[in-house]
Amino acid sequence: MRILITGALGQLGRALTEVFSDHDIIPTDLPEYDITDPGIVPVFTDMRPELVIHCAALTNVDGCAKNPDLAFKVNAFGTQNVAHACLRSNAEMVYISTNEVFDGTATEPYPEDAPPHPINPYGSSKRAGEQMAARYVNQLYIVRTAWLYAPGSYMFPAKIIDAADKRGELKVVTDEISNPTYVPDLAQAIAALVESHVYGIYHFTNAGYCSRFDFAREILRLSGREHIPVHPITLADYPRPSVVPPFTALANTRGPEIGIEFRPWQEALADYFRATS
Ligand SMILES: NC(=O)c1ccc[n+]([C@@H]2O[C@H](COP(=O)([O-])OP(=O)(O)OC[C@H]3O[C@@H](n4cnc5c(N)ncnc54)[C@H](OP(=O)(O)O)[C@@H]3O)[C@@H](O)[C@H]2O)c1
Repeated sequence: MRILITGALGQLGRALTEVFSDHDIIPTDLPEYDITDPGIVPVFTDMRPELVIHCAALTNVDGCAKNPDLAFKVNAFGTQNVAHACLRSNAEMVYISTNEVFDGTATEPYPEDAPPHPINPYGSSKRAGEQMAARYVNQLYIVRTAWLYAPGSYMFPAKIIDAADKRGELKVVTDEISNPTYVPDLAQAIAALVESHVYGIYHFTNAGYCSRFDFAREILRLSGREHIPVHPITLADYPRPSVVPPFTALANTRGPEIGIEFRPWQEALADYFRATS
């Protein structure tokens, strides 16, 4: 299959390039392929993809809060350009979305049909991206995921280890809760999904959920740093440019119907440490 990947140099894009290495891959990213440039539509169309996996995004949540116009330019209107190219080349599309399309007021994990209600510019721009994609593409998978990390990426596990080694103790919030997700597991699941041709919304994360505090403690335990003290704080103690939806755990209820399930996040995190040691 001829597969165009946007954001191919990002952590998910790199993992997908590896997982689909038996296919005819067209990896695209900045600076050569800017999805905000309307001229990208004929460029992508001329590449004649059969499937487009759209990972490119402005993913810095606080950065989006500081510059909402840029967040919408990339995440919403950039997605409109990618979707337009899918329409013109009759390609299937996978749009990668986020737990932050929800407002975080739930007490149980959000199923795929829960009504989105974003409360910050990152979440609003990604939700607008979902709507743009759905307006143009019928053969559309929307894959919402959360708290990604991968070998070689500087995400929460690597940041916690750095902070622990520099400061000798940590303060981490207990009231931000979601699903830590190992990028290689997500890439495998997307590979299985696109074999199904069962379109719609999916919630793909590792199984189980936790607070940032519990995630940090497991990172320290698995990396042999359990002696580092971690002090619990709350979101109110740690003001950020972006409003944080507190509980955004996702429930994968549709994946199992087509045989796609995930292992627990703790097992995946242990694999991350095996891969990075
Ligand atoms: N990271 C998470 O925890 C998380 C959680 C839930 C959902 N997601 C979603 O998952 C997807 C993949 O995330 P990721 O963590 O792999 O992100 P990432 O590592 O930040 O990769 C995103 C890639 O998109 C590129 N990009 C940014 N603006 C672009 C533009 N205008 N045109 C073309 N490419 C552009 C980036 O290039 P530069 O680096 O040069 O900017 C980067 O290579 C995103 O759609 C994100 O919203 C991520």
